[in-house]
Formats: sequence, structure tokens, C-alpha cells
Amino acid sequence: RGPLRVAVLGCGSVGSQVVRLLDESAVDLAARIGVPIELAGVAVRRLDAPREVEVPDGLLTTDALELVSRPDVDLVIETIGGIEPARSLILTALESGKSVVSANKALIAEDGATLFEAAEKAGRDFYFEAAVAAAIPILRPLRESLAGDRVTRVMGIVNGTTNFILDKMDTLGSGFAETLEEAQELGYAEADPTADVEGFDAAAKIAILASIAFHTRVTAADVHREGITEVTSSDVRSAAEIGSVVKLLGIAELVSTGSHDKDAVSVRVHPAMIPRSHPLASVRGPFNAVFVECDAADQLMFYGRGAGGAPTASAVLGDLVTVARHLLSGTTGAGESAYAAREVLPMGQTRTKY
Ligand code: HSE
Repeated sequence: RGPLRVAVLGCGSVGSQVVRLLDESAVDLAARIGVPIELAGVAVRRLDAPREVEVPDGLLTTDALELVSRPDVDLVIETIGGIEPARSLILTALESGKSVVSANKALIAEDGATLFEAAEKAGRDFYFEAAVAAAIPILRPLRESLAGDRVTRVMGIVNGTTNFILDKMDTLGSGFAETLEEAQELGYAEADPTADVEGFDAAAKIAILASIAFHTRVTAADVHREGITEVTSSDVRSAAEIGSVVKLLGIAELVSTGSHDKDAVSVRVHPAMIPRSHPLASVRGPFNAVFVECDAADQLMFYGRGAGGAPTASAVLGDLVTVARHLLSGTTGAGESAYAAREVLPMGQTRTKY
């Protein structure tokens, strides 16, 4: 068959890097997939906005709905972020028979169930590795490599902006506001950095991690959340004096109720003092890490760049290869629509000590 045609929605820091990599890695992608990937169009809000990448003539459009419905488009990559219009566009794409790759943590953490069911109904893929911890492969290991084990806890630094801020407060004694500005300039922070510093971004990511690790449904609204706006330089110094470091952690754990199939889950985001000897304490700057504990595999840690356009685009392209292969072989893969219902415990009811 001829090339697979891909539509990219959004051309911001992630979308532009996806467009760049599609071009620069074209030969390798074709070799891995078996057919070339061709850019069918890039949907943007404004045609004349400044962009990090040059989009070939005639491929920019402001009509995202028309683009995702085109019969000659096989795959859609969504990098717009936020709930709408991203959700409607993904649903239209799936209903029109396209497989979809998304980096949209807010949407998946709020309403992933609707998207998983739509993908299953359409017999198409919906993949979203880039939604959690950008470049770090973590959803696929939890969904596939560790699927035969029993994951008992996932604990991570899953927001690069807040880790960058806390790290500078710790090592340089910098102030909160100036470091946040630097994180924004470097392209780590969300469009509205409240999502980072108040822990909403980390809450969305830990909800997605909990859902996949425990094969259940956890939404961002289920997550107990506390950000870093109340953390002061003096808190960071006090932690240092006792050999600890302050990190914003996302924690998801199984809480035993006596029977494995009835285990509840506890999911939370808050600043925590961790000893400098813990592997998570060495995670610096905009890097992320996810520490996973399992019955049989014991402890694992996944580490890498959790923010930024190119690292996020790396995960998007990885999913694109998987989804393209599935499309060519007539299979689908993620299987998120089946799940086990588990109770999500409110913070006060968490029984596990750590
Ligand atoms: N604002 C996010 C962060 C970007 O700082 O981690 C990656 O999701």
C-alpha cells in the first residue's frame, strides 16, 4: 500500500517538534513501519502565528474538524491540550476510522473512559504515552511489561516545572517567582503555570498512572492534591539540615482490604521530604522519575526528561509507530476499555504507612 497519512493537531512546543521529527526521521520511520508516513496537514488556530518549525506549503489549516474527517487521513496526532476542542476532535477522528495518538493528560485524566470506549467501538487505537512524564516510557511498561505482576505502588516526580523550582531553591537558594519565570522561558511550564505549581498537572498524571498500574479508573478529581506554593525557602533549608530534600510527589498505591480483587487505591499529590539517599532525591531540574513497586519484580525506577517539546514528541512518535503497525496489520492494542472497578480512598482513610 501507499504511505500512511498523518494529521497533526496543534503546532505549539510539542506539535512543532512532532512535525520536525516526522520530517527528520522519515527514512527510519518508514523502515520501522514498512511504509512511509506522510504529513497530510497541521491544524492551527492562526495561520500567521510564529512557529518553531516550517510547515510545508499548503499543509496548514485552521479547520481541524475537516482535517480529522478527511478520508485520506489514516492517523491523527493531537497536541492541542485541554478538554475542548481536543475531545470532540479525537472522537470525530476515531468515529471517522482514524487511530489517534495524544499527549493530552488533562483530557485523559478527566474523561479517558469516553475516549477508550470510542476507540474500542471504532476498532481503532488511542495511545497516549506522551501524556505522562513526556519522554519516559512508563505507560507501556505498566500496561505490558509488568502486566503479569502485581503493582502495589507508583511514586513519582511527574512535574518538571515544580521539580526545577524546588531544585533551584535547594541548590542555589533561589526564590520561587524568579525560578518559575525561568521554567516558563525554557518551555517546561503549562500555558497557565497554576496547573504546575498547584499540582493539577501532577494530579492528572498520577491519575493516569494509577488507572493503568491498577487497571482501574481514577480521574484527576479523585486525587488528593496539594501544590508547592506554600513551600518556603526555610522549609527547603530545614529539610537540607536533616539530610532530606523537598519534592512534589505523586503517589498511587493499592490499599489492601484482605482480598486482592477488592483492593482499594489511594492517589495523592503533595510536597514531601525525602531522604537524600532515596533514588528520587537525585532527580534534578526538569527531569522526572517514576518509582514502581511490584510483588514479583520488586522495585524499578524510570527516569528521563518529563517536560519540553522534543522529549514529548519522542513519546508521540513512538506511539505513532505502534499505532501505524497496528493499522497495517488490522489489530488494535491498548485495551484500556476493560477495567476492574476499585474504590478510591479519600486521603484521610489511607491506611498504608510509608
Ligand atoms: N508542565 C509540565 C511539566 C509539562 O512541567 O512537567 C510536561 O507535562
